[in-house]
Parts: sequence; C-alpha cells; structure tokens
Amino acid sequence: MTLQSDIENLQTKTLADLAATTDLQKLEALRLETVGKKGALTEILKGMRELSDDDKKTVGALANAFRDAFASQFEAKKSELELESINAQLGKETLDVTLPGRRQKQGTRHVLTQTLEELEAIFLGMGYEIVEGDEVETDYYNFERVNLPKNHPARDMQDSFYITEETLLRTHTSGMQARVMEKHDFSQGDLRMISPGRVYRRDTDDATHSHQFHQLEGMVIGEHVTMGDLKGTLELVIRQMFGADREIRLRPSYFPFTEPSVEVDVSCFKCGGAGCNVCKHTGWIEILGAGMTHPNVIEMSGLDPNIYQGFAFGIGQERIAMLKYGITDIRGFYQGDVRFLEEFGN
Ligand code: DAH
Repeated sequence: MTLQSDIENLQTKTLADLAATTDLQKLEALRLETVGKKGALTEILKGMRELSDDDKKTVGALANAFRDAFASQFEAKKSELELESINAQLGKETLDVTLPGRRQKQGTRHVLTQTLEELEAIFLGMGYEIVEGDEVETDYYNFERVNLPKNHPARDMQDSFYITEETLLRTHTSGMQARVMEKHDFSQGDLRMISPGRVYRRDTDDATHSHQFHQLEGMVIGEHVTMGDLKGTLELVIRQMFGADREIRLRPSYFPFTEPSVEVDVSCFKCGGAGCNVCKHTGWIEILGAGMTHPNVIEMSGLDPNIYQGFAFGIGQERIAMLKYGITDIRGFYQGDVRFLEEFGN
C-alpha cells in the first residue's frame, strides 16, 4: 500500500532531519512542513478517501504513531537547543559581583539656605517675626521711605536695575523697614522682625561681589529700645554663629536710614585676634551694618520719633556663609556645581 510506505518514508527522512537540526528556527520550520496543517503528512492523508475501512484504520494508526514519535523527539530537541542557546548567552555575559554597588546620592540643602535657617532660628528664639518682601520694589519704599530722597547722593552706592522710573529690583531689604513699621500694631508690643531675601545691584563681577545676593534685614522698634539693645542683640547672634568667645566692635559709619550708624566687626575666629590672612592682619572682620533708626524713617511711617525709637541692621547672607565656611569665591553659591554643594552636606 503506497500511503503506508509514504508515511514510513516521511518518518525516516523527517526524524533524521530533526536529529540533525542545530537551530530553533529551522526546527520549527521542520515541524510546520511535516505535521503542520498544510504539511506533508496532511498531504499524504488526503489519499485516505480511496481506502477500504480496514486500510484506513492501519494508515490512521501509522499516522498517529508518527505524530507521537515526531512530537516527543521534537520536544526533546527543542529543550536541548534552548539549553544550548542559554548556555551560549551565559558564556558571553559575565557578572562581576565584586564591583562596588551604585550608591544613591542624597541631596543637601544649599549652604546659603543652611546659613539662613541658622540665622532665622536664632531670631525666632528672641521673639522676632519673619517677613518676606517682594524683589520688585517701588522707588518710594526702596529709597524714599528709608530717607534716601530722589537725587540723594547715597543712592549712587546702590544704583540699580530699574524697571520703570518708579519701580526697580530692590537694592537692599531695607524697604521692608517701612512696610512692616506702618502695619505694626504697637498696642500689641514692640516690633521685632527680620526680613531675608534676594537683592540686586549693579556691581563689578569679582570674587566677593555679585549683581544679585541675599540680605537679612532686621528691625526692632518700641518705646524703650536703646543702642545697648542693638549691641547685646548682635553680640548674641554673632556668638551663636561664630563661637561663644567672639567679641564684637562697633565703628562709626554712615547709612541714611540710621543715626548713629555703625559698622560691626567680629574678633577673628581663625586667629582669635592676633592677626592672620582671614582678618587681613587686623584681628577684626567686618560683618554687617547697623544703627539706631533715623527719626525721619520713624516719622514717615506715621510714628512719633519722640516716643518710638529702635534699631536696624543689614546682614549679607553670602558674607556670613563665606566667613563661616571659608568660601573664597561668591560665584560658587550660584553655579550649581555639585562638587561645591557637596562640601556642605548636612
Ligand atoms: N541696606 C544696607 C545695605 O544694603 C544694609 C544696612 C545697613 C541695613 C544698616 C540696615 C542698617 O538696616 O541699619 O548696604
């Protein structure tokens, strides 16, 4: 019977091909062309219609036996080839478990933020409120209300970025003195505030100046505020920032919004006063400006200067941070260089 020998021939040839296959794709192709729907076996079995019932049984049994034999050898070959391909891949890839792991980087607060938070904590501890102002300020509050009328020569020191004739990027945080004073309810007690923030000034771009920097304004106004309070307050703040054995010294200076005005120096925290490169061999480091609030400033805010007095001070945040951490170039604060920022991990 020819169908029988056709199946036997197919079986011999296919199983030999299968054993010789070395590639998974070819193996699958062989399956399709042999026992697939349109494969060789299907083709042979089309001849079944013409057979007697007995022959149909014999041929059917033979076909099933072939299918089973093919299936089991196919699976065995497939597992063998898959294993080979995994082994080949493992041979190519190496995993070195002695390599160091990948560290997760943890960010830190910016050194200026850290400095500000330290200052704020000290003032909060003394009952000050923290007030924020706008960086775009009117000429009126930035200058006039702190006793710098139009054409006042002291405006030159801070000449600035004007937006219109009457508005500018604030040159200092001192404008907040007037804004806070005129709002304060003195029946509730003295005014004690600090106001930190960014200020802008036309400036030469050298290592210690920037056209944009940060100040911390401070002000205390009441009926019995003296210059002794100013000195005691600043001494406390500076000792907390720079060490308990620091001394401060007040030197006469000039600011239009204070009278008298002082420049405040701290005894050098590096050499203790003997003289070194940090204090330029003077034993003292200039640290901030301050003074007793000028009666004009008090009066313009609607208060009687014969009843109310007080003091104000202006701290450069960058300057404090530079001194405290020995930073020599102000531009480091703004460039976002990770190597710089990482120096000041919390
Ligand atoms: N506004 C001053 C400046 O930018 C700093 C300053 C000095 C503020 C003395 C004050 C002060 O409140 O009393 O240079």
